[in-house]
Amino acid sequence: MKTKIVIVDENKIDAAVIEEAGQILKQGGLVAFPTETVYGLGGNALNETSSAKIYEAKGRPSDNPLIVHIAHMDFLAAIVEEIPDEAYKLAEKYWPGPLTMIFKKSGLVPYATTGGLETVAVRMPAHKTAQALIKAAGGYVAAPSANRSGRPSPTIAKYVIEDLDGRVDMIIDGGEVNIGLESTIIDLSGENPMLLRPGYITEEMLRETVGDVEVDRTLLDSGSKEAPKAPGMKYRHYAPKGSLAVVEGTQQDVVSYINQKIEESRSQGLKTGVIATDESADSYLADVVKSVGSRKDENAIARHLFRILREFDEESVQVMYAESFASQGIGQAIMNRLLKAAGHHVISVTDDNNE
Ligand code: TXA
Ligand code: MG
Repeated sequence: MKTKIVIVDENKIDAAVIEEAGQILKQGGLVAFPTETVYGLGGNALNETSSAKIYEAKGRPSDNPLIVHIAHMDFLAAIVEEIPDEAYKLAEKYWPGPLTMIFKKSGLVPYATTGGLETVAVRMPAHKTAQALIKAAGGYVAAPSANRSGRPSPTIAKYVIEDLDGRVDMIIDGGEVNIGLESTIIDLSGENPMLLRPGYITEEMLRETVGDVEVDRTLLDSGSKEAPKAPGMKYRHYAPKGSLAVVEGTQQDVVSYINQKIEESRSQGLKTGVIATDESADSYLADVVKSVGSRKDENAIARHLFRILREFDEESVQVMYAESFASQGIGQAIMNRLLKAAGHHVISVTDDNNE
């Protein structure tokens, strides 16, 4: 398949290009597009053949449900069984935006889109290009992140092209995304709201709006054998080509531990890397040291993380260490993605007795 690659500026949307992309989706084709979280790989959500094509292009197991993207609240009722009060409250505050809500699905949504589930995940993105595309496509666009299965979600079009060129009809390049981590997912289909995937909309923010929010236990317990409630969360998001461990402790202990490990790997002739922060990057002796940003700006860390993970692969780094991050606020989402990338390999280096 020949993939058409187009550039669309969110602030000066080219209507003709969006019209063409919308037609592709209406006819059952695939279009990758920017959202404020990560790039999406879009197909018509109400067409089971399109959903099947998404799974194929992505190389994704088809039991892993897709998020249906809408551009207006009026489009929600047709695809869900009921809209609970919490959904109105959350939509009022966070839609359009980086929040996905799960509802009981209506008959309009094919099982091919929901991975066989009776529930459907819905998000209204804030990105202007995404909104225009959804409207042009008829209102319902199913879109997983636009990476090949097992790779980090793309935050720039270059990585969408790398993963999907030749596998989709069109790729819309909208530059670097704003948030950089996938949307927060909250399940409203059960008795109590439950957080299934942390993201930019934090657990604290959700609680402020709807009161008590349960948290999927598998998010809290890295050793859990239980299946996560969001089927996609069971997959290792991204296995770097090299090994990756997250090191936690005081800054000083982390730096000295990592440098000692780097020395050991070096002496074995291995190429080493560190995922550091602006505050610490100069302290590391690894072959490749990359800062994800300043600890004072966690949003920037979120935005850069996936790109940096890909860059380590590009440079064929064999042994990697990462600093760890706070587990509150957006830090919860950063750590969730980092721990997945590391296969939950965490090393704690600060001796508790010394604290
Ligand atoms: O920010 C985002 O959400 C991006 C952009 C493109 O919107 N999309 C995204 O989609 O991250 P994806 O497919 O990579 O992740 C969707 C997650 C998966 O973990 C999937 O298992 C879960 O949502 N999910 C979807 N429908 C669900 C449902 N009905 N019940 C539980 N989990 C669901
Ligand atoms: Mg994904």
